[in-house]
Amino acid sequence: MSDRDWDESYRKGVPPWDPGDYDAHLPRVLADHRIVPGRALDIGCGEGKSALYLAGYGFTCTGIDVAPSAIEKAKSRASESGILACDFRVGSFPEDAERRDDGYDFIMDRGLFHLLKDSNEIARYLDKVRELLTPKGVYYTLMAKLEGASDSSGPPKWSENAVRSAFEASMRLHELRADRFFPRDPDSMPGWVVVAGAAV
Ligand SMILES: C[S@@+](CC[C@H](N)C(=O)[O-])C[C@H]1O[C@@H](n2cnc3c(N)ncnc32)[C@H](O)[C@@H]1O
Repeated sequence: MSDRDWDESYRKGVPPWDPGDYDAHLPRVLADHRIVPGRALDIGCGEGKSALYLAGYGFTCTGIDVAPSAIEKAKSRASESGILACDFRVGSFPEDAERRDDGYDFIMDRGLFHLLKDSNEIARYLDKVRELLTPKGVYYTLMAKLEGASDSSGPPKWSENAVRSAFEASMRLHELRADRFFPRDPDSMPGWVVVAGAAV
């Protein structure tokens, strides 16, 4: 989709990928990987619900998204909730993302990574993730899974091998877990929970 199409989806109302609330996998990922609050980045943050959850958890959070309408909604939500620890900005990843201070302790991406089209885009994206992460920082993405998918609509679906080969070239995989986009809904889209750190 073009940047304009993304924006249009948010201008029209609630887009189909919107989780309604923060990403339901986040609490478990943070707990299981013992991720201590610090600086966080949400790539393709949409309306900012997960970024605001991270702020509530104690992170200072940046959310970046190409859709100005999504960022406008995220900013309103933050100001209505009185949350000051979130900075939302319009921009395209990876080109508009900058390293802040010592880097990000946690970087998340719900539903953008799986849209990358080829190995060049993946390499540019993961190079930037590695540049932005602190040495012990953790990256998490939720992506669509091929095995068990019932239809071909929606985002591109990834096989386990494709996920492994995308990440293992430059990152250290901490977790690759088969789950659902909405873990409590067995009918929701099959997904991969991918948690990784920069390879040493
Ligand atoms: C499938 S949606 C997921 C949104 C949000 N993470 C969620 O779970 O509701 C993908 C998001 O990535 C944004 N996006 C697309 N290309 C982008 C890019 N190059 N840089 C930053 N955001 C992008 C879109 O505007 C959209 O909000």
